Amino acid sequence: MTATRYIIGPDSRPAFTRYARLHEDRARARTVILAPERAYELDPIGLIVLSTIDGVTRLSDLCASLAQQYSAPVEVITRDVTALLQGLADKRLLRDGVDPFSAPRPSAFASAITPFAGGPAGLLAELTHRCPLQCPYCSNPLELEKSNVEITAAQWGEAFRQAASIGALQLHLSGGEPTARRDLKEILAYAVEAGLYTNLVTSAVLLTREKLERLAEIGLDHVQVSIQDVVPESADRISGYEGGVPKKRDVARWTRELGMGLTINAPMHRQNIAHLPQIIDFAVEVDAQRIEIAHIQYYAWAQTNRAALIPTRETFMETVGIVDEAKKRLQGVLNFDFVIHDHYATRPKQCTGGWGRSIMAVTPSGKALPCHAAQTLPGLTFDDVREKSLADIWMNGSAFNAYRGLDWMKEPCKTCDRREIDYGGCRCQAFAVTGDAEATDPACHLSPDHARFAAYAETESQAPAPDFIYRRFGGAPQSAPAEESV
Ligand code: SF4
Ligand code: FES
Repeated sequence: MTATRYIIGPDSRPAFTRYARLHEDRARARTVILAPERAYELDPIGLIVLSTIDGVTRLSDLCASLAQQYSAPVEVITRDVTALLQGLADKRLLRDGVDPFSAPRPSAFASAITPFAGGPAGLLAELTHRCPLQCPYCSNPLELEKSNVEITAAQWGEAFRQAASIGALQLHLSGGEPTARRDLKEILAYAVEAGLYTNLVTSAVLLTREKLERLAEIGLDHVQVSIQDVVPESADRISGYEGGVPKKRDVARWTRELGMGLTINAPMHRQNIAHLPQIIDFAVEVDAQRIEIAHIQYYAWAQTNRAALIPTRETFMETVGIVDEAKKRLQGVLNFDFVIHDHYATRPKQCTGGWGRSIMAVTPSGKALPCHAAQTLPGLTFDDVREKSLADIWMNGSAFNAYRGLDWMKEPCKTCDRREIDYGGCRCQAFAVTGDAEATDPACHLSPDHARFAAYAETESQAPAPDFIYRRFGGAPQSAPAEESV
């Protein structure tokens, strides 16, 4: 059944959904709403309002009570409270009436620790590089880590507790394919005990309803299902895996039936870009609250397959229009995260929130990275989470300090007034294109490499697409003929 926008009015009885909750973020001295891959900061008034919604009390009664308590005109309170709640309802974090599914139990560990300020807000845990799919734009390194070097569930548990102790709020259980780990339930239980908001980033093809039910019982908050396309023949060819689309549709549906948050993640490139409207329809059909439409970044496997993946400027611009229209049409039904295509941009993205500023990634073998693709950069040394504490790695690790702050920058970034906004863009992209990891991201129009960067995209995207070099685990690269869907 397709969701409809939840309109907040006097008779509404709002409550948080199972996958959204208030959280005292003691590392940053604030209260936030934890939600799929987000933490929304609240001001004191917002906190008062959201502490009173219970799915039972009518909005008009709630506003009357607040007006009396704070000696304020009820019309003003009603206007402000309605606007606050409507904003959250449009993000699909509220529902009318109590959610029949209970949120994970509060963590005794989280309430006993005093995290320090300045740590990462998120931990990306790459549990394994094993994966039944072979996407040619995979962000895993070309040298995949074998299963015999993967760290144990208990070692992940220790990393999660340490991550919470240095202020992490969000945990992304990723891969490869995280559900390929037989001990995923044990790993998830450690994460829930540590009080982290849990996001499972999955291709979904290994999940059954029973497995998903068990993960929901343990306390999984949110599932991000990645899709290659929604047209089955195209999805099978891009992923190198047959029959993925119906499995993904099932897993997405079960996720919602079990009360968890759902995001559809659709990496965009020239071989699925024509199907963007159907991909958005799919997300609505399976009742996702969010969709990530991300034009892929060209490093690791995507760099290898660049000429097969780069879209033309015209098709990229069409996606901008399609997303703009869909955002308006689907307000309150589907939220969009749209990552634009770097070759046709003029400003770079603030990649990973700035190097060493907001995220730590850990590889299957326990190497701590400042960004998931950091191993593509030369000369960096990565510490092992079994040998050093996450706090030590975060503050003193040489890789984390390599491009942290502003001191490493060269011109034009060094004196640019946006240097503390985008931190010079993506280090991995800068190195992949220029051979210099300290260079300005070529997505920036001020980069001396920008014109060349845009020009080869134009050229490659107009030429016939070469065969994919598939990302294969434990085998020689395999290629398949290209087939344009545009
Ligand atoms: Fe950002 Fe550097 Fe470009 Fe300035 S010159 S906008 S800091 S990438
Ligand atoms: Fe590594 Fe952007 S992907 S800094």
